[in-house]
Amino acid sequence: MLEVRDLRVCYGPLEAVREVSFRVDKGEIVALVGSNGAGKSSTLKALMGLVRVAGGSLLWEGSAIEKTAAADRVAAGIALSPEGRRLFPRMSVYENLLVGAHTVRSRQRRSDMLDTIYQIFPRVAERRAQLAGSLSGGEQQMVAIGRAMMAQPRVLMLDEPSLGIAPKVVAEIAAAILRVNKEAGMSVILVEQNARLALRLAKHAHAFEQGQIVRSGSGAELLADPFVQKAYLGL
Ligand SMILES: Nc1ncnc2c1ncn2[C@@H]1O[C@H](COP(=O)(O)OP(=O)(O)OP(=O)(O)O)[C@@H](O)[C@H]1O
Ligand SMILES: [Mg+2]
Repeated sequence: MLEVRDLRVCYGPLEAVREVSFRVDKGEIVALVGSNGAGKSSTLKALMGLVRVAGGSLLWEGSAIEKTAAADRVAAGIALSPEGRRLFPRMSVYENLLVGAHTVRSRQRRSDMLDTIYQIFPRVAERRAQLAGSLSGGEQQMVAIGRAMMAQPRVLMLDEPSLGIAPKVVAEIAAAILRVNKEAGMSVILVEQNARLALRLAKHAHAFEQGQIVRSGSGAELLADPFVQKAYLGL
């Protein structure tokens, strides 16, 4: 469905992503793990069209999209929940969710997706009328995931959904990501510094170091890999 081939992203002289290749098939969760500055967010931004691709290609259903505008990629079925959530704090939860739906014309489809989000995230439903800025970090993260879901993507990209969130709520978000994948039928690219969490959820996983993929395998294989254990699992 989505294929990244030899992707390069540069910021001036800095090569943040070099020759990264991986694919995402229908219905799967793919994890990208790695330490600070390894190039995970830059990879997602390149997929979304928020940074320029310096080399390589991005294929969506076999067609190159690296020159396609971000809004058109959203309309084609790719959505990003960015690192740090980026909600509008002085707008309600409901209004924040609607922001994610601006490419969706059908009222019915918007309202169906809202129902799905409210089912998967009951806390979001309870707080729909509240200002987003008044929610806890975990609740805001749920809204940020919901906002990206509102675009009805086929590939949902989540950048660090567990960052800065209490452990108990992290488990809740992990369970919700599995439901989004199974019940809403969205493929997921999950970027996480919490490697243990991501590798448990993922069918395929890739470990990033300094802009390159240094290990690939199933989530279970990477959990059992001595390099991964030492570098990211504290074992
Ligand atoms: N807008 C930017 N301008 C210049 N350099 C950048 C920019 N964004 C990222 N970088 C650099 O690119 C490299 C990769 O950053 P990136 O954010 O992709 O890493 P990451 O794997 O997401 O890290 P983290 O786990 O800390 O979020 C880093 O060295 C970072 O400092
Ligand atoms: Mg990042």
